[in-house]
Amino acid sequence: MTADLATRAVAILAAGDPADKVALTRRLAEDWRGGAVPPPMRRDVPLRPARPVRPVLVHPRDLPKRKIGASQAGRVALLHALAHIELNAIDLAWDMLARFGADCTDQAFADDWVSVAADEAEHFALLAARLTSLGAGYGDLPAHDGLWQAAERTSHDLLARLAVVPMVLEARGLDVTPPMIARMENAGDRDSTAILCRIYADEVSHVAAGARWFRRLCRERSLDDAATWRGLVRRYCDGALRPPFNAPARERAGLPREFYLG
Ligand SMILES: [Fe+2]
Ligand SMILES: [Fe+2]
Repeated sequence: MTADLATRAVAILAAGDPADKVALTRRLAEDWRGGAVPPPMRRDVPLRPARPVRPVLVHPRDLPKRKIGASQAGRVALLHALAHIELNAIDLAWDMLARFGADCTDQAFADDWVSVAADEAEHFALLAARLTSLGAGYGDLPAHDGLWQAAERTSHDLLARLAVVPMVLEARGLDVTPPMIARMENAGDRDSTAILCRIYADEVSHVAAGARWFRRLCRERSLDDAATWRGLVRRYCDGALRPPFNAPARERAGLPREFYLG
């Protein structure tokens, strides 16, 4: 029997090696788009995905300060931190489908998160290759586990997951990436600049997918979307909303000011 989308998503969550995770993601996205995969069934989903032995995961306060100047070490530290976020993002997209896909019978939900997972795999692959060409590699530096902790806190509720992961954490990526692009550009690192520009463009669509599904669920449940979002953010990630906000990019992603400044 052909494995359904959630079963294959769980297999990707269980793959600890980043190269395997990327390869399996590419194959599943291609199979899904080709119509070769049955829709997601209800599945047991592990609370945490498998992770490689390195990087060592530490508390955020124990991470060395990320100074991104012109130095190669500073740029490597930034690219490493971003690669770690993207590896988590691959799992966050598959976790969304494995955990909540069976509840959302509209195929567009699966289409959206498969597409997000496929983007995140390309982001990770680009950053890992860039680290290699700078004489480093993913796993060389410590990293923190904050992203997955946010996933664990919202593993029981799709609305909370959408509010927190795409609409707070990925939206924060829209705020912080343009200054990073500027710093890479100033350092004369064209290859890294191009990768960050690609990621920035793709991430708008990820926030947009989150906002779209969040709004739709609110409509179906007769909830006020902005007020509901603010309540969930207060409950699950208080303090995560920090200005300055990139209002134009947030607007393009369907996240108007009334949500985060209301
Ligand atoms: Fe990404
Ligand atoms: Fe993303």
